[in-house]
Amino acid sequence: MSGSFAESTLATVRSKSDLRARVAAWRAAGETVALVPTMGALHVGHGALVEAARGAADRVVASLFVNPTQFGPREDFAAYPRDEAADAAFLARVRADLLYAPTVAEMYPDGFATAVRVAGLGDVLCGAVRPGHFDGVATVVVKLLTQAAPDFAFFGEKDYQQLVIIRRVAADLDLPVRIEGVATVRDADGLAVSSRNAYLDAAQRAIAPALQGVLRAAAQRIAEGVDISDACEDGKAALIAAGFDKVDYCACVDPETLQPLAEATGPARLLAAAHLGRARLIDNIALKL
Ligand code: PAJ
Repeated sequence: MSGSFAESTLATVRSKSDLRARVAAWRAAGETVALVPTMGALHVGHGALVEAARGAADRVVASLFVNPTQFGPREDFAAYPRDEAADAAFLARVRADLLYAPTVAEMYPDGFATAVRVAGLGDVLCGAVRPGHFDGVATVVVKLLTQAAPDFAFFGEKDYQQLVIIRRVAADLDLPVRIEGVATVRDADGLAVSSRNAYLDAAQRAIAPALQGVLRAAAQRIAEGVDISDACEDGKAALIAAGFDKVDYCACVDPETLQPLAEATGPARLLAAAHLGRARLIDNIALKL
């Protein structure tokens, strides 16, 4: 029998009008729709988002767009891994229904002049060292959400600050979509799976799981009553001792406002960002008190 093991193909659209026509046909048939925004170089972390989306909605659209406006001038926009054929095959395997892969001109036609800026939440943590990054993220996500008009949109907790910001944007702009967070998918040694892990050589890859280990240790110490700022300072020193080149931050914050906590009396999130060779790695964990 042919077909059962054949590589399945995935329908691909490149314009917002084609995307809207597909979504409208599903809606007319009474089906619900989920969107999974990505920048490609897809891996099991993205796969978990598609799986969660399939559990929530009848149809799943994955978008693939390496968004220039969220990269700083000295960041890796040009070098960001791009392989649409591999990504389409991956999405077919995890049974997405449609790939939306717009061009830069489709997303940002001549004259484009609007930005979505989230004050406060977008300026702290990663925002403090990547000025404008979250404006670029918020703007492109609002565009993707208004283009696809899904019932649900799925984002990973791996990029925790991004998830919090998108929730804020959706609430503030009355976007009729449910924003859903998905737990971070990790390699067996604890390293959060990331497209940028490909930048690590073997020695750096052996150091990288320390990011998760240091966050766990700091969370444990805070839960045992160690002063938050001491635990975070010790965490930064531990990352350097483990072999990281530079630590952007290690912080314990309110899970919704992202403001630093002086005392851990309620829900809290511990986040860190550190450089290792060419890669800048981020991770975070919930603090359960
Ligand atoms: P990208 O880095 O491709 O990630 C797409 C989605 O996959 C994000 O929601 C991210 O949090 C999630 N993700 C990545 N690694 C994960 C992991 N190990 N476990 C769980 N989820 C994971 O984030 C972006 O693209 C862009 O900023 C985007 C939102 C698409 C806007 O351009």
